[in-house]
Amino acid sequence: MINKIRGTTGYTEQAEQLFERYENIPFEEVHIGFLDLMPTSPGLVLDIGSGTGRDAAYFADKGHRVVAVEPTDELRIPAAQLHPSPAIEWINDQLPTLDHVATRGERFDLIMLTAVWMHLDDQERQRAMPILASLLQPGGVMIMSLRHGPTPPGRQMFDVSAKETIRLAEAAGLSVIKNTKSESTQSANRKKSVMWSKLAFRIDGKK
Ligand SMILES: C[S@@+](CC[C@H](N)C(=O)[O-])C[C@H]1O[C@@H](n2cnc3c(N)ncnc32)[C@H](O)[C@@H]1O
Repeated sequence: MINKIRGTTGYTEQAEQLFERYENIPFEEVHIGFLDLMPTSPGLVLDIGSGTGRDAAYFADKGHRVVAVEPTDELRIPAAQLHPSPAIEWINDQLPTLDHVATRGERFDLIMLTAVWMHLDDQERQRAMPILASLLQPGGVMIMSLRHGPTPPGRQMFDVSAKETIRLAEAAGLSVIKNTKSESTQSANRKKSVMWSKLAFRIDGKK
């Protein structure tokens, strides 16, 4: 059993409504501007903080094998029922250390961290980045989105910046290949001035 981390605060209570919300945003809309970085041939994808499984299901449908990591039981268990693909393995694990994923010894072509990084505090982010880098195949890509703006009621989030994230990533041997900042696509969040940084990194080395 793993200890509950603070970043999951609020997700248990809101799980039911999050299925309604997250499953109704198309993958292509969430990842607009980054679709060209998704692997084109079948590969191994790690989706960390996989939530309702929307993205895991998309990748499985495209022929990839997916490891979906989600520490909130109330999201992971129904997500597995909603998206019963044999290509997806659902794992109860968490950043910063990803103990269960790390012991498997796999290296991934793509790591997705969509709307998760701001749940980690300063020390957790420093700890997590080299572990994430170590999980990439040579030439592998990591795509992450960082939320800026007011913390939704009941959640636990920290101030994060693209600049700090790039610094941590570069120290871990990653190179930034895309860096964008945009307002939220959800009108309620736009009214609250929520912005998103979206970053993509590649690890050096040939595949
Ligand atoms: C905003 S939701 C995003 C869900 C999904 N990635 C999406 O785009 O729909 C953030 C997710 O991160 C998970 N989470 C929070 N802290 C985490 C941690 N330390 N390690 C892994 N996942 C975490 C939460 O349980 C939640 O499912």
